[in-house]
Amino acid sequence: TTDPLVVFTPSGKRGHFPTGTPILTAARQLGVDLDSVCGGRGICSKCQITPGYGEFSKHGVTAKDGALSDWNSVEQRYKDKRGLIDGRRLGCQATVQGDIVIDVPPESQVHRQVVRKAASAREMIMDPAVRPYYVEVAEPDMHTPTGDLERLAQALKDQWGIEEVEAGISVLRRLQPMLRKGKWTATVVLHKGHQDKAHRILGIAPGYFDRPLYGLAIDLGSTTIAAHLTDLRTGEVAASSGIMNPQIRFGEDLMSRVSYSMMNPGGDVEMTTAVRTALNALIGTLKAESGVKPQQIMEAVFVCNPVMHHLLLGIDPVELGQAPFALATSGSLSLHAADIELDTINEAARIFILPCIAGHVGADAAAVALSEAPNEQDELTLVVDVGTNAEILLGNKTQVLACSSPTGPAFEGAQISSGQRAAPGAIERIEIDPVTKEPRFQVIGMGLWSNEPGFEAAIAATGVTGICGSGIIEAVAEMRMAGLLDSKGLIGSPEQTGTPRCILEGRTHSYVIYDGTADGGPLITVTQTDIRAIQLAKSALYAGARLLMDEMGTDTVDRVVLAGAFGAHISPKHAMVLGMIPDVPLDKVTSAGNAAGTGARMALCSVAARTSIEKTVRDITKVETAIEPKFQEHFVNANAIPHATDPFTILRS
Ligand code: FES
Repeated sequence: TTDPLVVFTPSGKRGHFPTGTPILTAARQLGVDLDSVCGGRGICSKCQITPGYGEFSKHGVTAKDGALSDWNSVEQRYKDKRGLIDGRRLGCQATVQGDIVIDVPPESQVHRQVVRKAASAREMIMDPAVRPYYVEVAEPDMHTPTGDLERLAQALKDQWGIEEVEAGISVLRRLQPMLRKGKWTATVVLHKGHQDKAHRILGIAPGYFDRPLYGLAIDLGSTTIAAHLTDLRTGEVAASSGIMNPQIRFGEDLMSRVSYSMMNPGGDVEMTTAVRTALNALIGTLKAESGVKPQQIMEAVFVCNPVMHHLLLGIDPVELGQAPFALATSGSLSLHAADIELDTINEAARIFILPCIAGHVGADAAAVALSEAPNEQDELTLVVDVGTNAEILLGNKTQVLACSSPTGPAFEGAQISSGQRAAPGAIERIEIDPVTKEPRFQVIGMGLWSNEPGFEAAIAATGVTGICGSGIIEAVAEMRMAGLLDSKGLIGSPEQTGTPRCILEGRTHSYVIYDGTADGGPLITVTQTDIRAIQLAKSALYAGARLLMDEMGTDTVDRVVLAGAFGAHISPKHAMVLGMIPDVPLDKVTSAGNAAGTGARMALCSVAARTSIEKTVRDITKVETAIEPKFQEHFVNANAIPHATDPFTILRS
């Protein structure tokens, strides 16, 4: 062929096209990922490209400043209105004039890669279920009596190749005025989930409409609910916020909530109402923070444990409280916002809930699997998502096992005498001098140690208010390393430890970390009861991990990933001293941050990720801790600090 050669970077896709072919047309035919909302009409500017080597069409339009440009009048108008970066062209306007190389910048790709902070985790490629499309719709006439929706569907088919569309009543109510207002042009927002045959119309606006669309990634935990308002084009988080789960008043952990439901007729309904009200409040906070309007929020993706899953859906969780722990459904769910009474987002918005793995292993564990991808690792990887209920995954490319373990809320600072949520004023880092037994600490949001100059002034605003989850883990581990605590977890007397900071409270001792009583502040201590709560929590976590290792037939793991809302803040060394996790070299322990939340965001941003997690979940082997006698044995042995039978090199080094 003598037609010019057209090469796209970074994809490397290439082909021959006649002179005069628009770049966007060439891209479409080659399957190059080049965005377009207006379908090549020069309205949306989503198709921007950077000409590389070769001959592109030149138009010589005179710009406002009198300079000649390569742009045509459409591009020039766009430049004047909104600013087109120098050197960029609109792919639907520039044409092939000879052999050329064209670069598609990341922001012009639909399936762009979102930068992830954690190096260990898999990359995230945008592939949202929700996308806007600009269309020109045929006007009705007396001779072809079709409805407006049918003509819109025809336009979507002709102009975008979309075969099947459906619309709910809220959209139908707006359809006619919108089409007429836009003089038979409109931007429609379509949604297509990974199992849907048809595209569903979520919204319609007259003419070309360019407001960003958002989705919510929600990690619905037993103790806290965290939500990320995410831009569905870029994957960027516009606002994040968290709230306490109001169901705490019905029971701190999952099983006590299930019993509340068993003991109180209508108890499940009360809990369902409480969590839905909290969700709407949380969404309100996100909207206020970001300025995003309810109509712009088109989808919400949830990850949660099985009990929260049922309570969110309004399903009585009673079966989850007794063997064989049957779920109402373990599959993923695609719902309408009204089905779960989310009335603070777009009326037509969709809900997606990740699949559960088993009766005790929920969609949150599925989300962790999606984010951390143990099934793609060569090394045997243990992923521990630390929360009120710990999700534990162990595996590599060959096999992945999962279980959950009821750690209780101690790691989140609850049930701890001076415990509090991670917030300003909370102690998050602690060191205890092994010789003097004197502590020093850091408070959240401040880089200063308590014994450094300027500390008192810096905390004047908040004061020191308590200890958060990561702080209590460090406190207990440091107490053990400083010899204030024996391996059984007993705090020594002032005589045994040689420090007056060990005070007698009732019949046991407590260790004073901060005494603010002289100025009317709090006395912050770690009590014997606190140590017991941490021992129970860490034993449950460790026993769960150990059980999976037994099932796998291994005594060691290659790598440990600590995840969870505060997983990123846990110091690997202290977790190891405590015996929360199996013994591995310290440099093999990494933090993954809120992996469940990240998994939710990945599922929100990518339909392909939803398909992938369904497959992963099917392949995961579930291990039930509640009925496994070995769990008890591991649990009892793990009560010691770090552990009764395992060697734990860290205390010896
Ligand atoms: Fe919309 Fe080019 S495709 S401006």
